[in-house]
Amino acid sequence: MKLWGGRFTKETNQLVDNFNASISFDQKFYREDITGSIAHVTMLAKQGIITDEEKVSIIDGLNGILTDIDNGTLIIDDSNEDIHSFVEANLIKRIGDAGKKLHTGRSRNDQVALDMKLYVRGEISELEELLKHLLNTIHNIMKENIDTYMPGFTHLQKAQPVTLAHHMGAYFEMFKRDLSRLSDTFNRMNYCPLGSGALAGTTYPLDREYTASLLNFRGATNNSMDSVADRDYIVELLSDLSLIMMHLSRFSEEVIIWNSNEYQFIDMDDSYSTGSSIMPQKKNPDIAELVRGKTGRVYGALISMLTTLKGIPLAYNKDMQEDKEFTFDAIDTAKGCISLFDGMLATMKFNKDNMAASAKNGFTNATDAADYLVNHGVPFRDAHGIVGQLVLYCIDHNIALDDMPLDEYKKISPVFEEDIYDAISMKTCVEKRNTIGAPGMEAMSKVIAANETYLKTL
Ligand code: ARG
Repeated sequence: MKLWGGRFTKETNQLVDNFNASISFDQKFYREDITGSIAHVTMLAKQGIITDEEKVSIIDGLNGILTDIDNGTLIIDDSNEDIHSFVEANLIKRIGDAGKKLHTGRSRNDQVALDMKLYVRGEISELEELLKHLLNTIHNIMKENIDTYMPGFTHLQKAQPVTLAHHMGAYFEMFKRDLSRLSDTFNRMNYCPLGSGALAGTTYPLDREYTASLLNFRGATNNSMDSVADRDYIVELLSDLSLIMMHLSRFSEEVIIWNSNEYQFIDMDDSYSTGSSIMPQKKNPDIAELVRGKTGRVYGALISMLTTLKGIPLAYNKDMQEDKEFTFDAIDTAKGCISLFDGMLATMKFNKDNMAASAKNGFTNATDAADYLVNHGVPFRDAHGIVGQLVLYCIDHNIALDDMPLDEYKKISPVFEEDIYDAISMKTCVEKRNTIGAPGMEAMSKVIAANETYLKTL
């Protein structure tokens, strides 16, 4: 059944119907559509636009539809163009003429703008819960690994020693920012478009603030044209999701490297790994690879949405129907990736000895050897050159700086004394770094305590 058949003299071409319809995907927000309609009729009755009996009958009908869809007795089929038409048609079938009043003072343009906002709002809350859980997982790893030494990298070359707590702490910061971005998006979008009509408001005495408060919005939107044309919050959400995916993808890349035969920094739990159909020895990090791979889908949704919106004149245009599939897919993809990654991280084992050995073997203490010289009055640039020679010697002899005999040190610079070994030990290298944000235990303990407090506020 069509909501708009009156002025047409012919049936639409079947291909046009198929092309135009959105019910195959906008059925995802049947719940939000019904919730919005219940708020709308409650307001219509309060304003005396419909009677209380009509309101009760409509709300009963809508609740019945909701229950029946939920329990599978009412199947959403493709006989209607979209979920709005489906609900209205079913309401009229159930309660008769009163159902025909549901759409008073409303257009599908403000209706769909509302439904999408309600849906996105709910999904933001779910995403926030998943991110909080992930932050807790990272926090637990941090607490347990404040003295687990590992190489820190630049250019994927070993650079300076850090700790696993410090490395994890970097991701804690990223996901903390992601969480705050989601809440910014939520706060900015949290105004109700319902009552904006097709684009120019309505002539009925609607109480838009009342509808907004029934639906837990901060207020009503200010401009009826903007209300039906605004999809900024979807772009913001997709951008938030893209950043989350980018962070998960970088993390996945590291997990894949750490899991490689060469690194062996971690062991993935069997429950989060997969095998090969031909090579019996394989245990692959497919989950991390898939998270990395799915990042492209979410970026794609962001670019699609921006591109769809860029040429649309005010106010509503049908192009906007294209906001849904990509957004739904991006949300579902990001939610799946966050929870899978979280589970993988929580179950993985860190091979602490391999991490420490790797840090020791990569000259990650070379900067500290140079700092030792500087502390003994050698200008930094000269110290840099001297340590470069030490490193060359060690490469030739296939040893670490820690294993180079003192007389060899002294041949290169007489400034070195026995205390060089302590100065370049991994423990010293890390523990001396205690400026804000550095890996030293004192600095890390403060960060971990602050994170603990932050997590309690969530
Ligand atoms: N299915 C449409 C959408 O998703 C609903 C709004 C239709 N409005 C209209 N004037 N055709 O955008």
